[in-house]
Amino acid sequence: MESRDTITLTASGPLRGEVEPPPDKSISHRALIFASIVNGTSRIKNLLRAADPLSTMNAMRSLGIEIRDSGDEITVYGRGLHGLQEPEDIVDCGNSGTTMRLLTGLLSGQPFFSVLTGDSSLRRRPMKRVITPMHQMGAIIHARENDSLAPIAIKGGKLKGIEYTSAVSSAQVKSAILLAGLYAEGETSVLEPRKSRDHTERMLPALGAQLRIEGLKVTVKGGTELNAFEITVPGDFSSAAFFMVAGTIVKGSEILITNVGINPTRTGLLEIMKRMGADVQLIKQREVSGEPVADILARYSETLKAVEIGPDEVPAMIDEFPIFTILATQAEGTTVIRGAEELRVKESDRIATMAAELRKMSVQVEEFHDGLAIQGPVKLNGATLESHGDHRVAMALSVASLIAEGSTEIKGISSVEISFPGFYNQLKGLMSA
Ligand code: S3P
Repeated sequence: MESRDTITLTASGPLRGEVEPPPDKSISHRALIFASIVNGTSRIKNLLRAADPLSTMNAMRSLGIEIRDSGDEITVYGRGLHGLQEPEDIVDCGNSGTTMRLLTGLLSGQPFFSVLTGDSSLRRRPMKRVITPMHQMGAIIHARENDSLAPIAIKGGKLKGIEYTSAVSSAQVKSAILLAGLYAEGETSVLEPRKSRDHTERMLPALGAQLRIEGLKVTVKGGTELNAFEITVPGDFSSAAFFMVAGTIVKGSEILITNVGINPTRTGLLEIMKRMGADVQLIKQREVSGEPVADILARYSETLKAVEIGPDEVPAMIDEFPIFTILATQAEGTTVIRGAEELRVKESDRIATMAAELRKMSVQVEEFHDGLAIQGPVKLNGATLESHGDHRVAMALSVASLIAEGSTEIKGISSVEISFPGFYNQLKGLMSA
């Protein structure tokens, strides 16, 4: 029984066959934003057509950029570093933190007024982490609750380069500062405590930006015009993760996940799964548009060992914790996650939401301010579950239901449209293959 926002799933037989995950969300956002500020026409193949990058596409259109989708590829008519126009209305970033934070950086460099807002989840997420460095660079920005929450009103213009040390490892903060740095006088540096995903640093030099990486510090020189580009976006490791875990925990499964981006700043889950004893293998490693890509073979793994995850391991698997907690329920021993307080400020509070939903499935979970402890292995019980409007929670719970006793009802599944339209069709394809 299904409605558009609720699905009922029961335990599945072996999952078998081949799937290709949707295109990478992080790279899709960046391709659209960068293509808007280069000189000339850029082409993007395999852009993610999901709600989050569509928020970025609409935002760039509202800044005067023409973007066409032929189905086969996206064409962006870049207008150069100084070609954006003042938007006529408030820019709606939807559910997308990447759109809002990267645009806060970009718009800080523009000599016009703009306002960013988003849905109720995005309006609860911390924005001071990008607003503070923009203030230091010279942008005039006002936001709700003492400049910490959207809507964000920005009057940009003349920026000066800064050296900024970010308290959090966040690719969104890093990218916002680098985007503003493209417009600043002199050099702008950002230093983060641990390395976050590096798609921005990989792409910008390919467009002609002057960028330097020294350990955890990235420096960009302002004022350099950028060149149009062509890019093919690889599949999203964070979406592939749901199939990696499903293949590992559903008895008899063997799933080949093709065309997956395996940038090492993203593949922490793969390393952890190997440490747990999961049968996951990379095959046919190659490079596509400056990013490493492979196929991933995930097979049912009867015995999994619990692991402890600390702060050093968090950034490279930051989006995979909802699905990782499902894997942890099937591992022998207590899996402990610490140093992951950033999970509290994602699309939902992923520490609280996963603890609450797992308990409904009879899992013993302890909640810490910065993580979780999960006892395994446990036979999951079907229950009525809630996505809390969070796409990755919805998909993680759906995978859990495939090994649960009885049926599981999951409410709020329309949220999967944020990053993975077609998730349920692909899952059903594997069930019937
Ligand atoms: C992203 C960075 C991460 C990640 C998000 C996408 C990006 O957020 O969780 O899904 O594209 O830069 P933070 O920068 O807040 O860690």
